[in-house]
Amino acid sequence: MGIIIHEKEKQFHLFNSKMSYCIGVCPDGEIGQLYFGKKINEDQIISYPQTKGIRPVCCNLKENENYSKELALLEYPAFGNGDFRKPAYEIMQKTGSRVTNLVYKTHSIYHGKKAIPGLPSAYTNSDDEAATLEVLCVDEVAGFEVTLFYTIFENYPVVCRHTRIKNTGNDEVKITKALSCCIDLPDNEYNWLQFEGAWGRERYPAERSLSHGITSIESMRGHSSANYNPFVIVKRENTDEDHGEAFGLNLVYSGNFIAEAEADTYGKLRILMGINPGWFEWPLKTGEEFETPEVIISYSDDGMNSLSQSIHHFMNNNLVRSPYKNKPRPILLNNWEATEMDFDEEKILKIARKGKEAGVELFVLDDGWFGKRNDDYAGLGDWFVNTEKLPEGIKGLSEKINELGLKFGIWIEPEMVNEDSDLYRAHPDWVLGVPGSTKTLGRHQMVLDYSKKEVVDNIYSQLYEVFSNASISYVKWDMNRSITECFSQGENAEAQGTVYHKYILGVYDLYERLMKAFPEILFESCASGGSRFDAGMMHYAPQAWCSDDTDGHERVKIQYGTSYGYPLSTVGAHVSASPNLQTGRSMSIADRANIACFGTFGYELDLNEIPDEEFDTVKEQIAFMKEYRELLQYGDLYRLSSPFEKNLAAWMVVSEDKKTAIVAVYKNLKSPNEGQQRIRLRGLDEDRKYIVNGKGEIFGDLLMNGGLSIPDGDEPWYMGNGDFSSKLYVLKSDVTK
Ligand code: DGJ
Repeated sequence: MGIIIHEKEKQFHLFNSKMSYCIGVCPDGEIGQLYFGKKINEDQIISYPQTKGIRPVCCNLKENENYSKELALLEYPAFGNGDFRKPAYEIMQKTGSRVTNLVYKTHSIYHGKKAIPGLPSAYTNSDDEAATLEVLCVDEVAGFEVTLFYTIFENYPVVCRHTRIKNTGNDEVKITKALSCCIDLPDNEYNWLQFEGAWGRERYPAERSLSHGITSIESMRGHSSANYNPFVIVKRENTDEDHGEAFGLNLVYSGNFIAEAEADTYGKLRILMGINPGWFEWPLKTGEEFETPEVIISYSDDGMNSLSQSIHHFMNNNLVRSPYKNKPRPILLNNWEATEMDFDEEKILKIARKGKEAGVELFVLDDGWFGKRNDDYAGLGDWFVNTEKLPEGIKGLSEKINELGLKFGIWIEPEMVNEDSDLYRAHPDWVLGVPGSTKTLGRHQMVLDYSKKEVVDNIYSQLYEVFSNASISYVKWDMNRSITECFSQGENAEAQGTVYHKYILGVYDLYERLMKAFPEILFESCASGGSRFDAGMMHYAPQAWCSDDTDGHERVKIQYGTSYGYPLSTVGAHVSASPNLQTGRSMSIADRANIACFGTFGYELDLNEIPDEEFDTVKEQIAFMKEYRELLQYGDLYRLSSPFEKNLAAWMVVSEDKKTAIVAVYKNLKSPNEGQQRIRLRGLDEDRKYIVNGKGEIFGDLLMNGGLSIPDGDEPWYMGNGDFSSKLYVLKSDVTK
């Protein structure tokens, strides 16, 4: 791993054993892309890609009419100077000009990686894990500087990029667009894979080929959203799970974003990602700086399983911060689907006791414990206990839960306020919205104006009080509506374009302060399920409630799609009651657990209300999870068969030493007389003999090339009971040939 500089040619070659990322100074001084892909010889000088048009295109170099920006591959392009594709940034100057021209000035290289002030970002555990290149570019006329940051990692085919803009002129300017990165690729024969959906069906993969024009996904909801996830893959058409080239882009940001690909008419592809420029205007006074969020750019030349594994291990090791980093996650029991807001202390303790009997480790008290919170209409903003429900407070309840031998966790939704709350009555100007105009409600609640420091301070003080006076090991941080009427009351007109971004900075600030004050707490993020499931959140909360849809069959699709861009350790997955609250579908407790165990496992129901034989199964499931959770949360994941394409979905996890693996198969609809199917496994040691579910001995090579028979010979020829059945296969090996 390293960064080689060819001084004379002004080329920078970032490389590790798997990939190379090469940039250089173009003929007109701008920074251009030379190569991004599989590792190439780092000593070579790369001739600048062809930039001469046949029909004269615009050219801003008198002395080199063969150079046109329109045909160039650029690293941080502007609009208005001959490149007619979408720009990476725009700066409005005092004169009204938006014309900018960045040229290379200097660079620096160092080991390790710097944090981005106020924003989440990947980090190194020691400086020798990564090398960083900073390239400083200037526009003397417009009066600003741009620093492009590139960090290449030793252990992963990953480059992190972001950008800093500084006003070096005499006048204030306004940034109207500041994306994190631009990747210009020399051909556009790629497919675009996005992860889309809605509440209850988050992160379904959807692929399309890139033809001329712009393909774009975005959020303007104030959070990253269930509709489009800020993770995309750009891949060759024939790239599958195990072969072929793919680039992944994870934006480390939780607010409005945009990700787009522009396939131009000259056969090139531009990929852009960053803060959505919609409603974004950031004034920058002389000397001030603006730093963009970061993009984690990953690369694979051997398929998407490999791409996902790189992302998974990278996030687990270099993005997540938590006392539970790389540690097994506690098995929890959450009361939400059992009680919603209708509970008292005895009801909660009864549920918790049964959880303890089953073997759970953490009890989580969900919504409804504070203020006058008996329904959706009241209480948010008032973070003090409702003593009618919990006479001895959170302190008393948490101690009783601890006495049972369980850790105690609590739900909060700190970004929101109800009209019927003491907080709103005292500070009606603390919500986002235009005074006197319509304030759109969502779940009967309003959004607090986190762009205001005093609002964040107030919520911090309230939560500090709760967390420091009780025994709290876990916090579920929810966020149940999108931002509308994004206007900060009392702020001047110039500040209004900053509010969306400042809002999310306020959220990050509150997380940071709480993490510092309570370093032992495990945070789980949530936004009506998985509406803020992004790499930004993972820097604070190492796990996220994946979806409010806990139907086992639906969860196979949601968790399968999620696995492309996020590790299993981040996926909040619980067994809930049957029939399912969201779909009305009935599934056995075994089938519900067979998908929930690929994540941070737990239960979301009253275990007192299930039949005894199911309760016995729950005990076995918890014992199984305790035995295998390290593998299920941190193993190498291989997607084997997609629920979006096949009736039988399958995936597996393999331990680092390849001695243990767990394969899961999930059937959609049952057909009669369907015979056996074979699933070819991945990632095993071909020379090891594996015992499958305690039976037989099969070499890894046969399991990978011949496949695992589903169901196997001794079982009834059908699998489970009808539709939506599933099965886990545990493979163990102590023997090599
Ligand atoms: C939405 C979450 O996704 C649920 O799990 C639950 O916490 C409710 N909010 C509580 O209001």
